[in-house]
Amino acid sequence: MNIFVTRIIPQKGLDLLNAAGFEVTQYTEKKELSQEELISACKDSDALLSVGSNKIDEYFLQQCSHLKGIALMSVGYDNVDVEAATRYGVPVSNTPGVLSGATADVAFLLMLAVSRNAFYMHNSIGKGDWGFYEPTSNLGQELNGKTLGVLGLGRIGTELAQKCKAAYYMNVIYHNRNPNAEAEQTLAAQYVSFESLLKESDVLSVHVNLTAETKGLFDKSAFNQMKPSAIFINTARGAIHNENDLLEALENHIIWGAGLDVTNPEPMNRNHPLLSMPNVCVLPHIGSATVETRDNMAVMAAKNIIAVLQNQKMPQTINPEVYQN
Ligand code: DGY
Repeated sequence: MNIFVTRIIPQKGLDLLNAAGFEVTQYTEKKELSQEELISACKDSDALLSVGSNKIDEYFLQQCSHLKGIALMSVGYDNVDVEAATRYGVPVSNTPGVLSGATADVAFLLMLAVSRNAFYMHNSIGKGDWGFYEPTSNLGQELNGKTLGVLGLGRIGTELAQKCKAAYYMNVIYHNRNPNAEAEQTLAAQYVSFESLLKESDVLSVHVNLTAETKGLFDKSAFNQMKPSAIFINTARGAIHNENDLLEALENHIIWGAGLDVTNPEPMNRNHPLLSMPNVCVLPHIGSATVETRDNMAVMAAKNIIAVLQNQKMPQTINPEVYQN
């Protein structure tokens, strides 16, 4: 059995695949595979371990319907046409849970860094701008007792809320498709409408999937409803906010600051005006980038591949309906 892997992944994942007796081909170039290249690589493969944002769309699935399974090494699956995968009989899995702590850490880091203009201050030293001490300059804002608003109180949102409560006694409000009864109990989190989330959050952190419903959700109209002191954090997907509207909201002091681990597009243009604003911190999509988490993601993806090639259900299947056919 042959497995095609679209990037160099942690050895722990490869070791599992090799130990199971599979032939693994890893794409090792540091550039995105085109869809045609991916299709051609998959022609001789039985399963695909996909890292990054390769489009697993109708065309790909039609060309590669022979694949016994596709394991994503990511929790997000906005690059996959799930309905088409089911129609073509291809099970697809993701890596939920194992990256929640690391991603929540990055949201927390961005919140704190934005609240104290940390990245801008760091860069200003290098530019020779560490000058005369003025008590009224370089001022940030404190987080103690503030209100954290979470859009999407799932695994990652809950981890962030726990950290914010433990560190800063923050009050937690959230908006979800369905209320999260457990979080309401353990975090005293309060379910609010999306409009109230915008209006009441001091820090608003996004933890939803990118879908037709959430694409561009944070636009001019959303930012206009937020507090002028609010901090916007996005560690989910860049397309959930409108970057031009975000820039305008920051330039016009409609909101106070923003922390982004995801941008639209990625990579962000190195001359993007957001990169030189005092109250903005941007990271290059590193939410899950710790040794431990990437190992766990690779192992989880490998276990999904092994299961499907051994004619079992992939433990983390995102289209379980596929098994009913
Ligand atoms: C994920 O797992 O979805 C991360 O954002 C990496 O793409």
